[in-house]
Order: sequence, then C-alpha cells, then structure tokens
Amino acid sequence: MFRRLEEDAGRAPVRFRFEGREIEAYEGDTLAAALAAAGALSLRDTPVSGAPRAPYCMMGVCFDCLVEVDGRKNCQACMTVVEPGMEVRRQTGGDGAEA
Ligand code: FES
Repeated sequence: MFRRLEEDAGRAPVRFRFEGREIEAYEGDTLAAALAAAGALSLRDTPVSGAPRAPYCMMGVCFDCLVEVDGRKNCQACMTVVEPGMEVRRQTGGDGAEA
C-alpha cells in the first residue's frame, strides 16, 4: 500500500469527500495521491467491460484516473489539486470518458 513521506508533516490539512467518505489530504496533494494514501484506488469503471481502473501514470497521460469533481465529469485526478470541501465521485460506465 502507499504511505506518505516525512515531508508531508509541515503542510496544512485539507478535507474533501470521496463517495461520501471524508478524506484528509494535505495542501498541494493531487486527488489521485490523496486517494491512494487513503486506500481508495478504484476511481472509475470502463464503459466497455465495467472493469475497475486505478491511476496508472500519475502524469496526465493514461486517463485511468477520471473522476467527477463537484458535478464535473472527466476530471483527471492526477492533475487536480485537492481543495477544501470538494465532492468527488467515481465514474462508471459510459460517462463520456472514452470513445
Ligand atoms: S493517472 Fe494517468 S492520467 Fe491520471
């Protein structure tokens, strides 16, 4: 599993929600990093087979980390910095993420 580095200790905490669950992250975390640290790795299901997907590249290339943020679909969790009060949801099926 993932664990945080010592350097995270000096950053301010940021709370947001994922699928209704409160997650504590740190200022400057991406959603993907914060969710991985919280043990939430399945962020979406593929529209074709319904297979769960987790962040893979962590640099905006693979699109396996797409989530819904405050009602906006297809947000890349690895490229989105956490903000207090964000409401984040998994994407399922054909949410317009893939052709
Ligand atoms: S993990 Fe690859 S685009 Fe986000």
